[in-house]
Amino acid sequence: MTGWNASDIPDQSGRTAVVTGANSGIGYVTARELARRGARVTLACRSEERGTRALERLRSEVPSAQAEFRRLDLGDLGSVREFAASYDRDGGGSGDSEGSGGGGGGGGLDLLVNNAGVMALPYMQTADGFETQFGVNHLGHFALTGLLLPRLLRTPGARIVSVSSAFHALGNIDLRDLNSERNYRRWIAYGRSKSANLLFVHELARRLAASGSDVVAAAAHPGYAETNLQAAAPKMEGRRLAERVMWLGNRALAQSATAGALPTLYAATARGVRPDSFTGPRVLGWQGAPGKSWRAKWTLDDAAGERLWEASEGLTGVRYPAG
Ligand SMILES: NC(=O)c1ccc[n+]([C@@H]2O[C@H](COP(=O)([O-])OP(=O)(O)OC[C@H]3O[C@@H](n4cnc5c(N)ncnc54)[C@H](OP(=O)(O)O)[C@@H]3O)[C@@H](O)[C@H]2O)c1
Repeated sequence: MTGWNASDIPDQSGRTAVVTGANSGIGYVTARELARRGARVTLACRSEERGTRALERLRSEVPSAQAEFRRLDLGDLGSVREFAASYDRDGGGSGDSEGSGGGGGGGGLDLLVNNAGVMALPYMQTADGFETQFGVNHLGHFALTGLLLPRLLRTPGARIVSVSSAFHALGNIDLRDLNSERNYRRWIAYGRSKSANLLFVHELARRLAASGSDVVAAAAHPGYAETNLQAAAPKMEGRRLAERVMWLGNRALAQSATAGALPTLYAATARGVRPDSFTGPRVLGWQGAPGKSWRAKWTLDDAAGERLWEASEGLTGVRYPAG
């Protein structure tokens, strides 16, 4: 994968993709580059206004794009269910039912990019009462993937890519306190949610292999990329100085969102991507072209993966297809 960049993305014509959190940062660039290479892309975003604006921007940057916006709030399981049901009804809703993705309830889905995320928020709960970072970053995507899985399983060569972080190293999940109710520390909770992303991919890949499916579940991370992520919490809390520091840090140290999206795009489209692989920037896991990324040992723990899976099914009420 030496020097792999967006021009190496194989032709995506006839393929369908759903990208969560596609209105900004890594998600927007991922959606745009997939559309540029011919994929039919659904921008799954929580805000109608921001989603529609991103769709307009994408269409102006890639006039040939086949893209749509659909509302998805990962902090509300009702919204996740609605999204999956509406996607099932019309298969991506672009009006074009050609290609492997097809239209209608019996169609497929070639690519699901679980990208949306929040970082280091003060203690908050989702609509369903989960700690927000765990609820949005992990549980919302767990539910979404389970609901869309029948489509992915029907599609030869389908992939699921989850966007984690090098900061997963800040914390392993606590199976006795998944929602960090005992002692909430915002950065540890972020690390735990990103460890949950990796454990989810590990367990999903294991289950897919055991069932004989060729769907590839893989993970990626962008290193340090300049996006809205870093300043979101300070902004929400009115911490002006912290917001400014985050902004300055981004300007001085981060790579662009376009560069940060490359590991995701690699995991989503490059040939030969292995199940349960973790792709990130090659230079110190921070910047540069995609390469194999270091991951904490705990994200490869079969027993923890299975227990997280069972807990996630219980918490979300989304049961994956047997076998
Ligand atoms: N940037 C980095 O340096 C970095 C490093 C490591 C990992 N990551 C990961 O990269 C992914 C993308 O983040 P980013 O850096 O591109 O930040 P970003 O620009 O803030 O994008 C995050 C996206 O997630 C969406 N989102 C947040 N809560 C949501 C919810 N409840 N339902 C649906 N969508 C929701 C946001 O929507 P709104 O615009 O409506 O808030 C936004 O579209 C995240 O998973 C993050 O953890 C980023």
